[in-house]
Amino acid sequence: MSRLMGLGAAFALAIVVACGGGEGEEQTSAETPATTPAESQSMEGQGEQMELPEGVTMEMVNQGETIYAGSGLCYTCHGANGEGVQGLGAALTDDEWLHSDGSYEGIVETVMNGVDTSASSTGTPMPPKGGSGISDEQVRAVSAYVWTLKS
Ligand code: HEC
Repeated sequence: MSRLMGLGAAFALAIVVACGGGEGEEQTSAETPATTPAESQSMEGQGEQMELPEGVTMEMVNQGETIYAGSGLCYTCHGANGEGVQGLGAALTDDEWLHSDGSYEGIVETVMNGVDTSASSTGTPMPPKGGSGISDEQVRAVSAYVWTLKS
């Protein structure tokens, strides 16, 4: 009898030890979430960089925003935020592209060449470069900005 009770005590002790070990594991896993925010931050950073099309930099996007609202005259027909103006320029913020596949190069081509009266859904043409005197390089910058509006 006393031998069996001895075994029982040893068994109980084993459970306590096992539980102790379990807690230790929990503590270790509790530390993992603490490192996660830093990891996801760096992943977000990579994501932002990867989202831009090839050959496009954030600098171009920022320059493009200034051109859009200034010397490029884009805002006059497409609205201050690219929301579009009824009967003039189409919205540039949606996923619907009337004159290209919506890719960066497609947008560059539309801005460079404009839209013919016959091609325009409103019958209003867009002159090449919006009729502004911006350079080809500025067209690429403003197109980069337009590309970022859609999402
Ligand atoms: C004189 C008015 C006018 C100006 C200025 C103008 N656009 Fe446009 N834009 C239009 C019109 C009109 C269309 C064709 C809309 C349609 O078919 O409904 C168009 C179409 C576009 C499209 C194609 C949209 C699509 O759905 O495929 C892009 C991109 C665009 N413009 C960008 C620009 C940028 C960038 C500028 C500034 C450099 C600019 N536009 C200046 C009138 C203008």
